[in-house]
Amino acid sequence: MVSSKSRGWVAAATGVVLAWGAATAVHSAPAAQAPRTIWSGIYSEAQARRGEEAYKMQCTYCHQPDLSGGFFDNGTGRAPALAGPKAFDSSFLDRWRDQTVGEFIATIAATMPQTKPASLPVQTYIDIAAFLMSKNGVPAGAADLPADVPTLQEIAIVPKP
Ligand code: HEC
Repeated sequence: MVSSKSRGWVAAATGVVLAWGAATAVHSAPAAQAPRTIWSGIYSEAQARRGEEAYKMQCTYCHQPDLSGGFFDNGTGRAPALAGPKAFDSSFLDRWRDQTVGEFIATIAATMPQTKPASLPVQTYIDIAAFLMSKNGVPAGAADLPADVPTLQEIAIVPKP
């Protein structure tokens, strides 16, 4: 699903997804369950904490420790807030609605950190995504988000039921 706000990143993000697919397509179990959404407890609190540690090291320079975003020190750029009322310059759901968690992660991996995109391990991007969801009201559950692209691509970002 290509939203008007995708800003041409979808192609790059898709490339990342395909790369993950090649790396992780070992055994894909037949998927016959009901569609999963972000509201069914898809990541663990421990995973969100790992993501927070990575976020502090890689992302706070531009997005701020409290995720509020703002202008860079030299005033030349502005990073969007990643949580709160102005998250993603609209809201988490407005920006990512009807996309999948896989697309959310692939977009971040393909474009961030802005000066060094796709430079972190895939697992780190997944953990950071769990942290970002935890800051946007998405509830934690028992198990980690897995580093498995087909599974991530099945989890829909939809409004709270
Ligand atoms: C050097 C500054 C900088 C760093 C470091 C940085 N970002 Fe960004 N980020 C930006 C800017 C600027 C934008 C807005 C880009 C745009 O809209 O074209 C952005 C946008 C985003 C978006 C919104 C993407 C979208 O399509 O709506 C997310 C999510 C994000 N960054 C996550 C991260 C994460 C996670 C990290 C750490 C791994 C990170 N950023 C590190 C500057 C940065």
